[in-house]
Amino acid sequence: MTRAFSVEWRSRLAESADAWTEKPQPQGKSIRMVNFGKIGILNGGGDCPGLNAVTRAVVRAATYRYGGQVMGIFDSFDGLIWPEKMKEFTPHQVRGILHEGGTILGTTSRGNPFNYHEEQDGKVVVHDYSRRVIENFQAANLQALVVVGGDGTLTIARDLFRLGVPVIGVPKTIDNDLSATDTTFGFRTAVNTATDAIDKIHTTAASHGRIMVIEVMGRDAGWIALEAGLAGGADVILIPEISFRLEKVFEKIQERKAAGKKFSLIVVAEGCRVEADDPVWLAHAHEGQFSVPLSAGNKIGALIGRERKEEVRVTVLGHLQRGGSPTPSDRILSTCFGVAAVELAARQEYGRMVCLKGNVITSCTLDEAVGRIKTVPPDSHIIQSARAIGVSFGAD
Ligand code: F6P
Repeated sequence: MTRAFSVEWRSRLAESADAWTEKPQPQGKSIRMVNFGKIGILNGGGDCPGLNAVTRAVVRAATYRYGGQVMGIFDSFDGLIWPEKMKEFTPHQVRGILHEGGTILGTTSRGNPFNYHEEQDGKVVVHDYSRRVIENFQAANLQALVVVGGDGTLTIARDLFRLGVPVIGVPKTIDNDLSATDTTFGFRTAVNTATDAIDKIHTTAASHGRIMVIEVMGRDAGWIALEAGLAGGADVILIPEISFRLEKVFEKIQERKAAGKKFSLIVVAEGCRVEADDPVWLAHAHEGQFSVPLSAGNKIGALIGRERKEEVRVTVLGHLQRGGSPTPSDRILSTCFGVAAVELAARQEYGRMVCLKGNVITSCTLDEAVGRIKTVPPDSHIIQSARAIGVSFGAD
């Protein structure tokens, strides 16, 4: 069944494949006609600054350059399970969204069509809706599906491609943890937001002579903590890639005190890891207070306060880092990614993800794009530079 879809679909595209032709337009512009029909676009996973800029670029490039049509698919893959959640997007509908945070398409971190959890009669039932997604994709007469997401969403995209759906991926995440692209859009904005917060916390830390712990997002990668920490002048940066010992953090605080500096800024990645045999951590491990899951920043802040008998304040930046207007560089990257996705659709190069390599927008296969996260190399130049100026990573 699935295979038949794949063969039939591809042969339909092949039959209608025309050579590139240029059609003169009234304003002297030209629309390049390359067998370009209707494409769909959806977002998946957490939202991220720049999603709207990608949608706008896809709609405008598909319409202006190729005379094609774009369907906005709402609430991630849900829009292909329930096709009433699809709507045609013209350039008019995507006006004024370039600078807007969030996503006009909506998104969800749940809703994997291969493993869809629904509540029925008070029970959770799991469905495989992949067949329905394929049928609705065909019924909407879509030529290609542009999927904008991180590792989880792009893995779903890859699996749909394996079933014959002509998919094109666009890498999105504030975590910057996709290995096939130098940068994902959204990351620069998150680093800006976190740096701005650290700058503000810096002034209040200095006024009160306090130790300030700032927890940032990033899941299992330390990119946001490293870059925002360095840009914000952090004294200690704790990232998942370099496991820390609390004694080393205390040493840094003490060193600053000895130099007459009354405050310290400690930037903590949400996924940072304490060394398994850390004595301070182990001594407090069984205390009731920690039986409820506390975030990394809150645990570290509590232990510093208790052990050093000093005033500590913790700020967990959380979803602030995902909201708000994208930076100019993220607007540009999102726009270039959106256009590149349309170009792939025009060339019928499916099963690929657009990516940034150096200064070049290129693409790789979805197989290359997923399954391996990009973490901070502990010996990278940026880590070495941070160490050279006295930043502690809570390790030797
Ligand atoms: O992947 C982006 C991200 O913001 C991570 O940094 C964070 O761990 C996670 O998503 C939070 O997800 P949610 O919004 O589902 O809590």
